[in-house]
Amino acid sequence: MKEYKTIQVALLGLGTVGFGVYKVLQMQKEEMRYKIGTEIEIKKILVRNLEKAASRIEDPSVLTNDWKEIAEDDEIQIVIEVMGGMEPARTYIMEAMQAGKHVVTANKDLIAADGKELMDEAKEMGCDLLFEAAVAGGIPIIRPLKQCLAGNHLTEIMGIINGTTNFILTKMTQDNMEFDEALALATKLGYAEADPTADIEGLDAGRKVAIMASIAFNSRVTFDDVYTEGITKITAADIRYAKEMGCDIKLLGVARNTPDGIEVRVHPMLIPSTHPLASVNDSFNAVFVHGDAVDDAMFYGRGAGELPTASAIVGDVFDIARNLQYECNGRISCTCYKEIPIKKMDDIECKYFLRMLVKNRPGVLAGVTTVFGSQMVSIEQIIQKKKFGELAEIVVITETVKESSVKASLEEFEKMEIVKEISAMIRVYGED
Ligand code: NAP
Ligand code: HSE
Repeated sequence: MKEYKTIQVALLGLGTVGFGVYKVLQMQKEEMRYKIGTEIEIKKILVRNLEKAASRIEDPSVLTNDWKEIAEDDEIQIVIEVMGGMEPARTYIMEAMQAGKHVVTANKDLIAADGKELMDEAKEMGCDLLFEAAVAGGIPIIRPLKQCLAGNHLTEIMGIINGTTNFILTKMTQDNMEFDEALALATKLGYAEADPTADIEGLDAGRKVAIMASIAFNSRVTFDDVYTEGITKITAADIRYAKEMGCDIKLLGVARNTPDGIEVRVHPMLIPSTHPLASVNDSFNAVFVHGDAVDDAMFYGRGAGELPTASAIVGDVFDIARNLQYECNGRISCTCYKEIPIKKMDDIECKYFLRMLVKNRPGVLAGVTTVFGSQMVSIEQIIQKKKFGELAEIVVITETVKESSVKASLEEFEKMEIVKEISAMIRVYGED
């Protein structure tokens, strides 16, 4: 019988994703040797709480809480970082590469902030540093952007890249729930974390869009460059009105490479219900990409969870194992060879949905349209929806205008006696 070489790896973290990796490597135990010509063995698992972890695995002797046992073990060739957080994950990844080890990580926080420094170190050391799981969990998107679509000038990426918020918006749309009720359900079902801030405020999606934009546009984009706005202000009424206009509201990560710079932002958006992203519901994720050669391509699937995320990680591990056998690690390093400026949010152009409460008396609509006119905001539709005693609710859809003009109009409205409340300002996808 043929003898297969064994590649030793270390797992940093045995939480949701770490345990998923442990399971998928077991599920692939027999097949992997035929697929990649080698076997992968977990030699060490780093955790904080040894006792808790011991009950989860067959052989607790692989557990350690001493990083040095891994860093100084020359037999360990691949380190899989699934602890999360900035430190000590950053230090361990750096030290692993400095010791000549290849790294797989799912850590979007780290890659979105310090991707350049980590990639530079990987290049210097001739190491592989792969992070397919950091964006959209089980959906292959990093490798497609970096390799399969390399023959394109990619100009737009638009994605539903946070499952928690997509689940909440789906419940608000399909079951008429308000935000708080939908969040409570997401928490009860285990979609939302105990502290959901990073998800509902758009920070998690912001990190993912920064990583995708850097790769797609060959220019470094960090999390600090991303405008983020979450879904906490979206109401069931906004969703109902969007539906009446043939649209759905989704939290989108948008990255566009325009002649004036890179737009990179996360915010709720009205998209036509006929757009492929509108039918991505529940906790599913999808990424829509446009390139000059491929035209449109969409990637859909599970953006998180134990096994889907582990699927992406094990794919990276197998890739490194193949490179090790052919001695070609470090083949694909950082592809950011341009320095494209980031466009200010004030300079982006799109359509806007505005919902306002105004005094219900003659001349009020004229007053509203005069303000828009003075700020060069052209109106596509203005509809009076409801009356509440002395007040009326109006909904305005603008044509494509500059964000700064809309903001200036809203500042004027806030000073006007006839405007009681600006209830919503949501961007709208689409051209005039
Ligand atoms: P998790 O369930 O909280 O697990 C974290 C694990 O890391 C635990 O085993 C923890 O050990 C260990 N750990 C944390 N800090 C440590 C330290 N300083 N030293 C040693 N061990 C440490 O987290 P997760 O959901 O698996 O997420 C892990 C990473 O994957 C994060 O970067 C996350 O953003 C990313 N990710 C997660 C998903 C997902 O669906 N969950 C999807 C895509 C990407 P103790 O339990 O002993 O403290
Ligand atoms: N919290 C994320 C989500 C999963 O809801 O999609 C981890 O990236």
